[in-house]
Amino acid sequence: MKIGMFDSGIGGLTLLKEAFRQLPLEEYHYYADTDHVPYGSHTVDDIRKYSMDAAAFLLEKGCEAIVVACNTATSAAVSLLREKYPVPVIGIEPAVKPALKLREDKRILVVATPVTVREKKLHDLIEREDVHHRVDMLALPGLVNFAERGEFDSPEVKEYLDEELKTLDTGEYSVLVLGCTHFNHFKNVLKDYFDGDICITDGKEGTVRRLKDVLSERKAVSEGKRSVYYYESGRRVDNKERLDFYDRLLEHLDGT
Ligand code: DGL
Repeated sequence: MKIGMFDSGIGGLTLLKEAFRQLPLEEYHYYADTDHVPYGSHTVDDIRKYSMDAAAFLLEKGCEAIVVACNTATSAAVSLLREKYPVPVIGIEPAVKPALKLREDKRILVVATPVTVREKKLHDLIEREDVHHRVDMLALPGLVNFAERGEFDSPEVKEYLDEELKTLDTGEYSVLVLGCTHFNHFKNVLKDYFDGDICITDGKEGTVRRLKDVLSERKAVSEGKRSVYYYESGRRVDNKERLDFYDRLLEHLDGT
């Protein structure tokens, strides 16, 4: 099946990689909205518009399912996309529910973009699931820009995290939820700020599982050969340097 995925940039590669694992033989069209990254610093109306443009582009390419590989776009636009487009739309969101079951000893910290942290969708999810009030939220918007530059463990990244996490008692947490797909690239660096047994989790596995269910229901799981096409805000990526960059990032996710 032709599957369209979009994110503001490279964050959604986290989901693409997981999709390769669970659904290895599909035709993937990955749209990075590099003209508008970071979404987390735009207004909700802007993010809705960018998301609609990305989805419309992917549908034009013939995609039969859309994966919103961006927590921020899911929180701002997933309902609208579902209303507007006649294909299954699957969106990633912070894995609060699994996190609550993962460990019951200490608190849970959800890190995400400012929009995700502010929007109703996450607040509703926490209100519904977090009956013992164990979940805290923190926005880390700076990590998105570092990630887009391919900068994952530089002294500047560490300085940024030192500053953002300095008032937090990180020893209070046993689960860290990565509520922004860009943050998976920083798993190793983030780990160092928490206790040695911190569990780090995110929504990619569940999201791809839902995609797989959708394909299975339609008997649309492919058996041919995998192919991947990349676009940056609607422009096909075909220069070798940029394609190598995407490949390197997919590899980098192995080590995180
Ligand atoms: N990767 C995105 C997310 O999961 C958005 C990052 C951004 O563009 O601010 O929220």
